[in-house]
Amino acid sequence: MSGVRIIGVGSVNLDLVAACDRLPAPGETVTGARFAKYPGGKGANQALAARRLGAVVSMIARVGKDAHAEAALALLREDGVDLSHLVVDEEAATGVALIAVDAEGENQIVVASGANGKLEPRDVEGVGPADAVLCQLEVPVAAVEAAGRIDTKLFAINLAPALPVPAGLLERADLLIVNEGEAKFYGDALYRGEGMVAKTLGREGAVLYRAGKEVARMPVYAVPVIDTVGAGDTFCGALAVALAEGMEEGAALRFASGAAALAVTKEGAQPSLPWRKDVEAFLQDKA
Ligand code: RIB
Repeated sequence: MSGVRIIGVGSVNLDLVAACDRLPAPGETVTGARFAKYPGGKGANQALAARRLGAVVSMIARVGKDAHAEAALALLREDGVDLSHLVVDEEAATGVALIAVDAEGENQIVVASGANGKLEPRDVEGVGPADAVLCQLEVPVAAVEAAGRIDTKLFAINLAPALPVPAGLLERADLLIVNEGEAKFYGDALYRGEGMVAKTLGREGAVLYRAGKEVARMPVYAVPVIDTVGAGDTFCGALAVALAEGMEEGAALRFASGAAALAVTKEGAQPSLPWRKDVEAFLQDKA
């Protein structure tokens, strides 16, 4: 266990998952799916990924005062993520994600944000310091901006889902993490700061830039794909842990890619997040 201290600022959802043969087209009904419920939310997934990979993690989030909250928080609690800064909203419901996963592991996700949409800068203020702060965009941008004021050497934002943010926020970040769609959405604005940009490329692997220049590249690890939900979150959590620990850029990208590869081999967002020993054994096997 590395013991680097990470603060996660982001969403908590309960994932309602239908595993089906194929994803529906707009207006179409697909029947015969298998149903399951898993704890999820990009914020919670990334916080838990970092925790399972050895960090000491605190999560700043908002949930509702309802039964979904306990189900959504169960694995964070079980694995020892600090939830002492969690806010329970008196009115809004806990976030819910409706997810369809097809036989190839591809997915479609619709999120009803609920309490996540009410996370405020004051919920974030006063926490820290930390070795890394890890955010996404399933909570209001103002809360992410407040997270950017926490005392840390690594302020990381996973720009998912892609939506307009102030240019200053992108420049403030020490690490931006995007997939190909998000990279297209933000374009050159990603590379205006001096920090790092990590881009996942689906079956082509991942690439890391620093101050606009490529510094590391990783091909994808070939593994059986069961469910890709949570794989991107695993990559983000793992990269934050590795860089906060001071791993060299290439080694950090390899660690994150190995962790993400393991995450696609199991069902569910949080149940699929790997532990440190499994990632290390996997990477040793691939050396
Ligand atoms: O990144 C995967 C996550 O996106 C799911 O767990 C779901 O809750 C949505 O937030």
